[in-house]
Amino acid sequence: MECRQIGYLFLGFAVFVSVMYWSSPSHIHSELRAQYIKKNRPNFVFILTDDQDVVLDGMLPMANVRKLIAKEGLTLSNSFVASPLCCPSRSSILTGQYVHNHMAINNSLSGQCSGTRWQMGPEKRTFATHLHNYGYETFFAGKYLNQYGHEKVGGVKHVPPGWDWWFGLKGNSRYYNYTLSVNGMAEEHGTDPDKDYLTKVISERALEFLHKSSFEKPFFMMLSVPSAHAPFTPEPKYSGNFSSLRAPRTENFNIKAGEGKHWLMRQGVQPLPDDVVNKVDDVFRNRLRTLLTVDDMVKDVVEYLEVVDELKNTYLIFTSDNGYHLGQFSQPLDKREPYETDIRVPFTIRGPNIPSGMVNTFPTTNIDLAPTILDLAGIRIPKYMDGVSLKSEITKTKSTGVHVVLNSISLSEEELLKREYQIPGYPQRVMRMRVEAILCAEKTCVLFGELESSAFIAKLLITNQCYRTRLFMMAIFIDLRFHHCGVRAKA
Ligand SMILES: *[C@@H]1O[C@H](CO)[C@@H](O)[C@H](O)[C@H]1NC(C)=O
Ligand SMILES: *[C@@H]1O[C@H](CO)[C@@H](O)[C@H](O)[C@H]1NC(C)=O
Ligand SMILES: *[C@@H]1O[C@H](CO)[C@@H](O)[C@H](O)[C@H]1NC(C)=O
Repeated sequence: MECRQIGYLFLGFAVFVSVMYWSSPSHIHSELRAQYIKKNRPNFVFILTDDQDVVLDGMLPMANVRKLIAKEGLTLSNSFVASPLCCPSRSSILTGQYVHNHMAINNSLSGQCSGTRWQMGPEKRTFATHLHNYGYETFFAGKYLNQYGHEKVGGVKHVPPGWDWWFGLKGNSRYYNYTLSVNGMAEEHGTDPDKDYLTKVISERALEFLHKSSFEKPFFMMLSVPSAHAPFTPEPKYSGNFSSLRAPRTENFNIKAGEGKHWLMRQGVQPLPDDVVNKVDDVFRNRLRTLLTVDDMVKDVVEYLEVVDELKNTYLIFTSDNGYHLGQFSQPLDKREPYETDIRVPFTIRGPNIPSGMVNTFPTTNIDLAPTILDLAGIRIPKYMDGVSLKSEITKTKSTGVHVVLNSISLSEEELLKREYQIPGYPQRVMRMRVEAILCAEKTCVLFGELESSAFIAKLLITNQCYRTRLFMMAIFIDLRFHHCGVRAKA
């Protein structure tokens, strides 16, 4: 399939060149090829934040993102991640696949977070490899996967395929005292705020790349910042910002998780003691502070693109690998839970043919990113990707209306859903699921619910038994987008 696509590309190119041959001197073939690739392909700057929520004011510090991306482009207000945990979600973003298909099931090497099986399989099929094969110059800086650079899997010498420029962070998010793989060579960083603060280093490398680029080839740049992940270390100049704020007291803030919640939610001291609540507030402020540096980076990159006249031909995409909770249902701080705070993420995009200043409610998930990027680049979407391209939706000037179905699913429909998601080899009992809400747009629905035990969730992922390969079956929600779910909003 890919060979055939390359074949078409070269066939098209050959026809183009032979036409040009008769009207121009023949020695400019390589220049023509560069122009051919260039003229037809947009650039991309993909900014991926770490653990940034959208529900608990996570976008508050992003004045430049609002002004330079959202206001000039489109916000997808119903963006979710199918697996709100760094490594599984990032692996889904890179491959366009659900966790049960790429099998990076947790943040450990043994769970294939940057593990051997990941390197031998899914890593060779990320959007980067496709973009690279089709003539893109690809650039990556920042956090990749939590176990990247581990000695057991090749250390920092291992540069994932598809990336021409590689500045990969060894291990999990940090702000100081880290190792970067600079195209396979270790580069150590200390604690000098000017030279070592990771978000700033990412920003500088990005600007250097743009500065050096002749833009003969289209480029894809991924800026994968550590903010707002632990250890929540702001740049010194921002250490005093937001001091008067505290974590939002949502309706479910610091209340006991009831019997209806799954097992994990009912562990721990509930409600939280005062010192823990203070810690939650402190983390809330520091998360926002770390994001201010990201917002500066966005401004610098956009301004530079404008100076070199590449801005109008560049898609800027801003999103996060998962959300975060801060005190909801007495869970102090983390992600990985099946609730709005954790699964809902920011998503905004600007670029060619994207309407400006629009908000679209169309429901999307992290697996849609890879197919959307390839589609916007004019590359055919490989069949193994589970996600769908959002291209037609994000280039519309009118939002597709969505309807929300809340706790109103009749018994027969619930029975239907149960049957649909029974996993071979597992008793129906274990599969009991409470449906909380369904969000539908045309034939696309995203269904939210809770399984009765989180222990089961892990098992389910490991067995890789899915009733239908395209259905997502982790803890969090089931994505029914390939099937008309037949559920209508109650009047
Ligand atoms: C990750 O998954 C692997 C494989 O199932 C398992 O052995 C390991 O304990 C898991 N790690 C964590 C932290 O859950
Ligand atoms: C960085 O490492 C040094 C030396 O090990 C240590 O003293 C310092 O506390 C660390 N700083 C941070 C911010 O991690
Ligand atoms: C951060 O705080 C400083 C000092 O109060 C203020 O001048 C600055 O505008 C704040 N920056 C942002 C981006 O909010």
